[in-house]
Amino acid sequence: MATGKGAAPLIHLEGVTKVFLTDEVETHALAGIHLEIAKGEYLSIAGPSGCGKSTLMSILGLLDTPSSGVYTLNTKPVANLSFAERARIRNQEIGFIFQAFNLIGDLTVYENVELPLTYRGGIRSSDRKQMVQEALEKVGMAHRMKHYPPQLSGGQQQRVAVARAIAGKPSVLLADEPTGNLDSKNGEAVMDLLKDLHRNGATIVMVTHDQRYANFADRTIHLFDGRIVEEGVSAQAA
Ligand SMILES: Nc1ncnc2c1ncn2[C@@H]1O[C@H](COP(=O)(O)OP(=O)(O)OP(=O)(O)O)[C@@H](O)[C@H]1O
Ligand SMILES: [Mg+2]
Repeated sequence: MATGKGAAPLIHLEGVTKVFLTDEVETHALAGIHLEIAKGEYLSIAGPSGCGKSTLMSILGLLDTPSSGVYTLNTKPVANLSFAERARIRNQEIGFIFQAFNLIGDLTVYENVELPLTYRGGIRSSDRKQMVQEALEKVGMAHRMKHYPPQLSGGQQQRVAVARAIAGKPSVLLADEPTGNLDSKNGEAVMDLLKDLHRNGATIVMVTHDQRYANFADRTIHLFDGRIVEEGVSAQAA
């Protein structure tokens, strides 16, 4: 195992809060989150609607910043970076998979997977081509490279979204309800795909309402009102 005892966690959150201000209403979406995620770990996040799961994912994914607290990613403090620096690290370190796939409808499958790599810069186009090809092969979608997302089934679109997330070899994959828009057969296919990626070393954080899918993970944390209220090895999680 690469992660020996005492190795720094890939992700470390300490006292992370998030307060949203809207029309004089303060929402404490996260109220002091302490969390460590090891390299190679598969963590699932559960909890009722509105408890802060997506807010936590946005912060983990550097789409948003905490109101207070410490976030260390790969030993680097990232809670208070400039917008540009945050975008740069996000592009290199984070792969996102969303419930709604979020593919661009008038780009081909190939172009969708390639797009984040073109933002990165410093990648030769021949290398980029190979990264896209490899990612599409991993999810079994290389044969649909020239299709457009509306020409694919929901399950296929999500597999393309997984390819887009993994193409740049990020440090962590963040999946917020990745099976939420899929029927159970396609949902299971996407979960199997994530499990394979994990077996091959990927670090994954996944939000799911579905206990069956939470059991794919090594560990589950339960959020309630912006706090972690329970934590456990998934097989034993309530
Ligand atoms: N941009 C925002 N502005 C104001 N309030 C927000 C914003 N984003 C989230 N919130 C509030 O923060 C709280 C947590 O929202 P969040 O989206 O993290 O919940 P969730 O656990 O993902 O819920 P669900 O299971 O329904 O997706 C909610 O009360 C929500 O209304
Ligand atoms: Mg949510």
